[in-house]
Amino acid sequence: MSRLTALVRRVRAEGFTPREFRTVAITALVLLSVIVVTGGAVRLSGSGLGCDDWPNCNNERFIDVSTGHAAVENINRLFTFLVGFGVLLAALAAWYRRPRRRDLVVYGLVMLIGVPAQGLVGAVVVWTDLHPAAVQWHFLLSMVLVAAAVMMLVRAGEPDGPRRIATVVPRVRRRVRLLAVWTSITVVLGTIVTNTGPHAGDEYAKRFWGIADVDASGERIFRVNGDALSWVSRVHGVVVWVTVAVAFSLLWTLRNLRKDRGMLDAPLTAWLLVAIVQGSVGYVQYSAGLPVGLVAVHLAGATTLVGITTWLWAATSTTAERAGDMVERVAGRTRRPRRGTSLGS
Ligand code: HEM
Repeated sequence: MSRLTALVRRVRAEGFTPREFRTVAITALVLLSVIVVTGGAVRLSGSGLGCDDWPNCNNERFIDVSTGHAAVENINRLFTFLVGFGVLLAALAAWYRRPRRRDLVVYGLVMLIGVPAQGLVGAVVVWTDLHPAAVQWHFLLSMVLVAAAVMMLVRAGEPDGPRRIATVVPRVRRRVRLLAVWTSITVVLGTIVTNTGPHAGDEYAKRFWGIADVDASGERIFRVNGDALSWVSRVHGVVVWVTVAVAFSLLWTLRNLRKDRGMLDAPLTAWLLVAIVQGSVGYVQYSAGLPVGLVAVHLAGATTLVGITTWLWAATSTTAERAGDMVERVAGRTRRPRRGTSLGS
């Protein structure tokens, strides 16, 4: 009997162990993150309409690798099936995990619905000849899926307790939420910059504030409007500064809350480091005329930052293994703190 058959039998009889579930959750997160970059490769190589139909590549073939653009688009489409399989496995693993946890099942369901929804948005992208709003939503939906996968992974590492408790005081929690909101606005604005600029799909793609024109063969094309690109990039850049200021205000709020700081230390440090690199790449790519290599790094950086922001959010609460944890925490809060102690648990 192969090891796989033995594993399937054991899982059917006893369910997934928490450790096995975490491995499946990591796989789903990796697949969902990688497809953002392969999807980006489609745009950055100008292969957005490498396949001009959906689900068939074109009206002759389901899979067509006869041109470079068609091959890039096809590889991305085929990779979607692998992602679909990974996500299906994660959702099933959440259901068959022992003990079964409602929160993990919900994240599994979000991912399970999200992947076919992405297929549909991808189809709209092709059918609308790369409409910028469709391209933008294709990316944003991917960010939702990455966030769901990170939540699933972080929550899977928590004890299987019956109740959730806050790990930080309310004002820290509010600051973390504010940071998540500003990070999301930054990301949305980034997608508007992309769909105003030269990497919206291919040279024929419509753009936000693009200039309609015809090429030498009389084909309708859209030229980038340089003024629009520079002002949306500026707005994106200013919002990044506001977001970074919110991150520093969170750091300031944490200065006397040793225990709360301990809870958020790893995700907040990661957030600040990635944001600094991401911001620098943003300015360099803009001044260098948006070379595809740097734009790809910026895309991967944005995905990483969305993942880290989700991790930061997730770290503000956890499950209580025992009801006593909650009592201890509340007692810790109501006691007046002495100098150098924290209100958080
Ligand atoms: C925390 C920092 C930042 C985040 C999270 C972020 C996020 C993003 C996102 C999500 C995109 C769209 C990616 C895509 O759809 O492929 C983008 C594009 C872009 N960002 Fe940023 N960004 C950041 C900082 C900056 C800064 C400081 C600048 C400088 C002005 C900048 C300039 C750009 C430009 C020019 C694009 C368009 C690139 C293209 O042609 O595809 N970014 N950004």
